Amino acid sequence: MVTEKFKSKGKAPKENPLTSEGLYPNPESLYAQDSINLGILNRLVGQSILSVDQFDKELVLEICKFAALLESTEIASSHPLDGKIIITAFFEASTRTRLSFESAVLRLDGKIISIPTGKVTGVAKGESLSDIGEMFNAYGDLVVVRHTQTDSLDEIMQNLRLPLINAGNGSGEHPTQALADWFAILKWKPKLKMDNIRDDDKIHLGILGTPGSMRAVNSFLRMSLLFKSGIRKISIISELADPLGPELETMLQESTMEFTITNDINDVLSDLDVVYMNSIAFLGDSYKTLDSRFKLNAQSNLKDDAVVLHPLARLDELDPNLDGTNHNLYFTQAHGAVFVRQALFISILNRFDRLPSKSIPLKT
Ligand code: CP
Repeated sequence: MVTEKFKSKGKAPKENPLTSEGLYPNPESLYAQDSINLGILNRLVGQSILSVDQFDKELVLEICKFAALLESTEIASSHPLDGKIIITAFFEASTRTRLSFESAVLRLDGKIISIPTGKVTGVAKGESLSDIGEMFNAYGDLVVVRHTQTDSLDEIMQNLRLPLINAGNGSGEHPTQALADWFAILKWKPKLKMDNIRDDDKIHLGILGTPGSMRAVNSFLRMSLLFKSGIRKISIISELADPLGPELETMLQESTMEFTITNDINDVLSDLDVVYMNSIAFLGDSYKTLDSRFKLNAQSNLKDDAVVLHPLARLDELDPNLDGTNHNLYFTQAHGAVFVRQALFISILNRFDRLPSKSIPLKT
């Protein structure tokens, strides 16, 4: 089945950036008949976002509702980030994360100072990250950091007094990616936000990769446990015998979630409702490509209504011949990240008072 049928079902997004192929669920289903709860979003004011462990289900849902409203509403003319400077400091390569954070700021009329590579900073001359953190204090109001090293954020935060958003730290976490992932899933199936979901509506979630050493799948799995009421089972598909590591293994055991680990996607593929893929594992200073056994294409034995997510960049594990099918939720996932990041900026920087109150109803 091709995309056109699905495009025609949804309301056109406000600036229609979604001209590429794939499934584009209507964001309205997430916030209809429910105003945004400012009391919950206020928990983010002035906070850094370092790990999914900071979130509970209530907060994730409120961020996603807020993001859905931002996706459907023209608010640029209210200049919500007017006068604010965001520093994007990327010490590791990125396409989506840096550009979607920067797009989010610019569309809210804020300003950006960008470090697209660590090589243009004093790091090239041996400067410490803690000294760079001290400098950030004078130059901006919030900093977004990506770094190759898992412990880099601790060092930057030694002297940092601004809120920091973790945009991916080595093999650690990528918490705002997990928000973008669940934003896409909840738009696709809003029932998953319910605590008392019917058994028939629960999903079987497949995760390809090694959550213990891949930051996007690590954060995605942690956030998925917040939505366990909507998940029938989690299957981890990995070439490793122990893809979780002790901490995640304990979390899964304690969640009482049914889960399996397999090294063959064909063991579970035909039963999966959501397939979360990833192509690369960041290991120290290098990337490791996954085995070819973990590839998907339009001929794969997917359920008719199964959706595929991928934080991208993809290699050959995700065939472009899936792009034009109703399985493609990964482009929505990437596009929606802008609105999730806008919701975070407005909340952390406490710019709720700049929103047009008629279009963005806030409940205190
Ligand atoms: N999803 C993601 O982190 O992509 P980039 O590496 O391009 O930022």
